[in-house]
Amino acid sequence: MNINPPSRDGALNSPWQYNFDNTPPKPAEMQSILDCLVVGGGITGLTAALLLQQAGKQTAIAEAHTIGFGTTGGTSAHINTFADTTYAEAESAFGEEGARLFARAIREGAELISNNVSTLNIDCDYESKTGYLYAEDEEQIKQLEEIYTAALKVGVPVNYTANVPTPVPFEKALAFEGQAQFDPIKYINGLKKAYIKAGGILFEHTLIEKVDSKIGMHEAHANKLLITAKAIIYATHMPPNISVFNFECAPYRSYVIAVKLKGGKYPDALIYDSQEPYHYVRTHRIDGEDLLLVGGLDHKTGHEDPEKAFAELEKYTKDYYAVSSVKYRWSSQYYIPADGLPYIGQMPLTADGIYCATGYNGNGMMLGSIAGRILADLVIANDTPYRQLFNPARIKPIDSFSEFVKENADVAYHFIADRFNVKKTDSLKRLAPGAGKLLEVDGKKIAAYKDEQGNIHALNPVCTHSGCIVAWNAEERSWDCPCHGARYDIEGNVLTGPATRNLKTITDDES
Ligand code: FES
Repeated sequence: MNINPPSRDGALNSPWQYNFDNTPPKPAEMQSILDCLVVGGGITGLTAALLLQQAGKQTAIAEAHTIGFGTTGGTSAHINTFADTTYAEAESAFGEEGARLFARAIREGAELISNNVSTLNIDCDYESKTGYLYAEDEEQIKQLEEIYTAALKVGVPVNYTANVPTPVPFEKALAFEGQAQFDPIKYINGLKKAYIKAGGILFEHTLIEKVDSKIGMHEAHANKLLITAKAIIYATHMPPNISVFNFECAPYRSYVIAVKLKGGKYPDALIYDSQEPYHYVRTHRIDGEDLLLVGGLDHKTGHEDPEKAFAELEKYTKDYYAVSSVKYRWSSQYYIPADGLPYIGQMPLTADGIYCATGYNGNGMMLGSIAGRILADLVIANDTPYRQLFNPARIKPIDSFSEFVKENADVAYHFIADRFNVKKTDSLKRLAPGAGKLLEVDGKKIAAYKDEQGNIHALNPVCTHSGCIVAWNAEERSWDCPCHGARYDIEGNVLTGPATRNLKTITDDES
């Protein structure tokens, strides 16, 4: 365990973060032209890079921070055979064959993880569990029945059960056998080790600022480094800069607390309710003690109060469990795709040979893993059974995903409203130490954070991606953009794309 873990994309520490492997990568001896450059060192990037390297393709990973810095270091690490986009929803938008192929992708993603754990001998607390999904009222029962029917139709084993290891009263429940959980950072540490052993090159603290493409070749510029590669994979969730995905994926924050119980049994299962937003519960043994992980209460990035989300999560947990202490609390980000399925493949409106993967919804472990394989297959043989289904250039009606329509309307609102109005104004003096706020000082909009010593960190709140106004996230001490999910630390440094440029400090801005 690393007692001084490298940072994650927020101020709160996840338990996995203490297992970050911060051995600096060996200085790279790079051949002049790589087969593939993978941008991003999370589960997608490492899975793709390892498969490419194992297939004899010379590969480099460029990670802007350190391996696992982004969502992989903050996920709650569930491995499921069902997905947030239900198979019934997938069938309604993509037909029965599409839903079957989606179920296959989810299953193959889960199998890829368990195969890597056994073949690479990765010690990552991997455990098989039963997953339970329960309904508490008539409406939820109806949804549950649809989930049951659609799961069987696409070949996912599921049963009704009367026994769920939860203190929450419920009406009806499903049991999915063969689910699993693990420590995602220990897992990607194992992938990293195998990747380096297979001759892979790793650059950390390397932000790819620009890519110039010529026919069949791409030049990636990062500070003083120039990397030339025949293919590029963006494994960064949202590809950088402005892309179609800014209008096709909505960024969400998700919350988790890990608590110690006074007594009683920790459930040996993965348990989900059907509320909107939902809650889940699972047990993980961390540093020799069992902890109950309770998560959910997801909301769109930059829209609701993270402090309130944590308070509600804690209250919910205490309503049902005898909590003796809260050991960890953290949040992370994911992206909901417009039509329910991820975008994996050739990136639209870019040169051939530039690939991306995004829109995993809350299923990043399975979809990130299968995305790694799909992208590696595309680079190696330009072939994958998932090409059409996950094609990032597909056009699909999105009416069945009314939630997304609402999100997009909301983005449009921010594009306009943010340019004319800072709703909350206050004086710098009244800002409490440790607090951040949007202020208007001398007619100028400021994103101001006052540190514990009373120093003001004043930034221009205009997001460098596309001009929306950032919002303060008091829990992760970050400035989060409500439009496409870019996030910045208190100095204005980019934590999460699609922005690639830091927020300007007020001094920079004035100079
Ligand atoms: Fe697009 Fe901020 S992330 S405007």
